[in-house]
Amino acid sequence: MKIKLNVNQKEKVFEVEPNEYLLDVLRRTHYTSVRRGCDNTGCGVCTVLLDNKPVPSCSLLAVKADGHEIITVEGIQEEADKLGRHFGDEGADQCGFCNPSMALTVYSLKLENPKATDEEINQYLVGNLCRCTGYVAQHDAIKKYLGDQS
Ligand code: FES
Ligand code: FES
Repeated sequence: MKIKLNVNQKEKVFEVEPNEYLLDVLRRTHYTSVRRGCDNTGCGVCTVLLDNKPVPSCSLLAVKADGHEIITVEGIQEEADKLGRHFGDEGADQCGFCNPSMALTVYSLKLENPKATDEEINQYLVGNLCRCTGYVAQHDAIKKYLGDQS
Protein backbone atom coordinates (compact mmCIF):
# COMPACT_ATOMS: atom_id res chain seq x y z
CA MET A 1 0.00 0.00 0.00
CA LYS A 2 1.04 3.61 -0.51
CA ILE A 3 1.34 6.27 2.16
CA LYS A 4 2.27 9.93 1.92
CA LEU A 5 4.69 11.47 4.36
CA ASN A 6 6.22 14.89 4.53
CA VAL A 7 9.82 14.07 5.46
CA ASN A 8 12.07 17.00 6.26
CA GLN A 9 9.78 19.40 4.36
CA LYS A 10 9.50 17.18 1.28
CA GLU A 11 6.30 15.40 0.26
CA LYS A 12 7.02 11.76 -0.53
CA VAL A 13 5.09 8.61 -1.34
CA PHE A 14 6.23 5.33 0.22
CA GLU A 15 5.20 1.81 -0.65
CA VAL A 16 4.81 -0.01 2.66
CA GLU A 17 3.52 -3.26 4.08
CA PRO A 18 0.51 -2.97 6.43
CA ASN A 19 2.57 -4.37 9.31
CA GLU A 20 5.76 -2.43 8.60
CA TYR A 21 7.16 -0.07 11.19
CA LEU A 22 8.20 3.47 10.37
CA LEU A 23 11.81 2.74 11.41
CA ASP A 24 12.10 0.01 8.78
CA VAL A 25 10.58 2.19 6.08
CA LEU A 26 12.89 5.10 6.86
CA ARG A 27 16.03 2.99 7.01
CA ARG A 28 15.36 1.12 3.78
CA THR A 29 14.78 4.47 2.05
CA HIS A 30 18.18 5.73 3.24
CA TYR A 31 17.24 7.81 6.30
CA THR A 32 19.97 5.97 8.14
CA SER A 33 20.46 8.64 10.80
CA VAL A 34 17.40 7.00 12.38
CA ARG A 35 19.08 4.29 14.41
CA ARG A 36 17.95 0.88 15.51
CA GLY A 37 18.66 -0.10 19.10
CA CYS A 38 16.40 -2.18 21.31
CA ASP A 39 13.57 -2.36 18.74
CA ASN A 40 11.00 -2.40 21.55
CA THR A 41 10.47 1.20 22.71
CA GLY A 42 13.12 1.06 25.41
CA CYS A 43 16.09 3.11 24.22
CA GLY A 44 14.89 6.01 22.08
CA VAL A 45 17.63 5.88 19.42
CA CYS A 46 14.98 5.41 16.72
CA THR A 47 13.27 8.69 17.66
CA VAL A 48 11.85 10.88 14.92
CA LEU A 49 9.55 13.88 15.24
CA LEU A 50 5.96 13.24 14.21
CA ASP A 51 4.28 16.63 13.85
CA ASN A 52 7.11 18.02 16.02
CA LYS A 53 6.67 15.49 18.84
CA PRO A 54 9.27 12.78 19.53
CA VAL A 55 8.07 9.23 18.86
CA PRO A 56 9.92 5.90 18.77
CA SER A 57 9.73 4.92 15.11
CA CYS A 58 10.40 1.25 15.97
CA SER A 59 6.92 0.97 17.43
CA LEU A 60 4.91 3.20 15.10
CA LEU A 61 3.29 1.44 12.16
CA ALA A 62 4.16 3.37 9.02
CA VAL A 63 0.50 3.48 7.99
CA LYS A 64 -0.29 5.41 11.18
CA ALA A 65 2.03 8.17 10.02
CA ASP A 66 0.22 8.54 6.68
CA GLY A 67 -0.40 12.22 5.97
CA HIS A 68 1.83 13.45 8.78
CA GLU A 69 5.09 15.37 9.00
CA ILE A 70 8.23 13.48 9.94
CA ILE A 71 11.51 15.13 10.87
CA THR A 72 14.81 13.30 11.09
CA VAL A 73 18.03 14.93 12.21
CA GLU A 74 18.82 15.90 8.60
CA GLY A 75 15.79 18.19 8.80
CA ILE A 76 17.16 20.18 11.75
CA GLN A 77 20.81 20.27 10.76
CA GLU A 78 21.45 23.83 11.89
CA GLU A 79 19.94 23.23 15.35
CA ALA A 80 21.71 19.87 15.64
CA ASP A 81 25.02 21.59 14.87
CA LYS A 82 24.38 24.19 17.59
CA LEU A 83 23.55 21.49 20.13
CA GLY A 84 26.52 19.46 18.96
CA ARG A 85 28.90 22.35 19.69
CA HIS A 86 27.61 22.47 23.27
CA PHE A 87 27.96 18.71 23.56
CA GLY A 88 31.58 19.06 22.45
CA ASP A 89 32.29 21.91 24.86
CA GLU A 90 30.83 19.95 27.78
CA GLY A 91 32.54 16.69 26.87
CA ALA A 92 29.18 15.03 26.22
CA ASP A 93 30.04 13.81 22.73
CA GLN A 94 31.23 10.23 22.93
CA CYS A 95 30.30 7.38 20.57
CA GLY A 96 27.54 9.51 19.03
CA PHE A 97 25.06 6.69 18.53
CA CYS A 98 22.36 8.48 20.51
CA ASN A 99 23.10 11.95 19.14
CA PRO A 100 20.52 12.14 16.30
CA SER A 101 17.65 11.03 18.54
CA MET A 102 18.86 13.27 21.37
CA ALA A 103 19.05 16.27 19.04
CA LEU A 104 15.50 15.69 17.81
CA THR A 105 14.12 15.34 21.33
CA VAL A 106 15.95 18.44 22.56
CA TYR A 107 14.75 20.40 19.52
CA SER A 108 11.18 19.36 20.29
CA LEU A 109 11.69 20.45 23.91
CA LYS A 110 12.91 23.82 22.67
CA LEU A 111 9.75 24.25 20.60
CA GLU A 112 7.48 23.18 23.45
CA ASN A 113 9.20 24.57 26.53
CA PRO A 114 12.31 26.66 25.80
CA LYS A 115 12.65 27.69 29.45
CA ALA A 116 12.50 24.14 30.78
CA THR A 117 13.73 23.58 34.34
CA ASP A 118 16.30 20.92 35.22
CA GLU A 119 13.49 18.59 36.25
CA GLU A 120 11.54 19.23 33.06
CA ILE A 121 14.61 18.54 30.93
CA ASN A 122 15.12 15.25 32.75
CA GLN A 123 11.47 14.31 32.33
CA TYR A 124 11.46 15.16 28.65
CA LEU A 125 14.55 13.10 27.93
CA VAL A 126 13.55 10.10 30.00
CA GLY A 127 13.03 7.93 26.90
CA ASN A 128 16.45 8.70 25.37
CA LEU A 129 19.11 6.39 26.74
CA CYS A 130 22.83 6.99 26.37
CA ARG A 131 25.27 4.23 27.20
CA CYS A 132 28.35 6.47 27.29
CA THR A 133 27.95 9.77 29.03
CA GLY A 134 26.27 9.46 32.41
CA TYR A 135 23.94 12.31 31.36
CA VAL A 136 25.43 15.13 33.48
CA ALA A 137 27.50 16.63 30.67
CA GLN A 138 24.60 16.16 28.26
CA HIS A 139 22.26 17.91 30.66
CA ASP A 140 24.66 20.87 31.00
CA ALA A 141 25.01 21.09 27.21
CA ILE A 142 21.24 21.04 26.75
CA LYS A 143 20.80 23.83 29.30
CA LYS A 144 23.32 25.96 27.44
CA TYR A 145 21.65 25.21 24.10
CA LEU A 146 18.25 26.23 25.49
CA GLY A 147 19.85 29.31 27.06
CA ASP A 148 21.15 30.37 23.65
CA GLN A 149 17.57 30.64 22.43
CA SER A 150 16.30 32.93 25.18
S1 FES B 1 15.01 1.08 18.80
FE1 FES B 1 13.15 2.14 19.15
S2 FES B 1 13.16 2.57 21.27
FE2 FES B 1 14.96 1.37 20.96
S1 FES C 1 27.23 8.96 23.27
FE1 FES C 1 27.31 6.79 23.06
S2 FES C 1 25.26 6.16 23.37
FE2 FES C 1 25.21 8.24 23.78
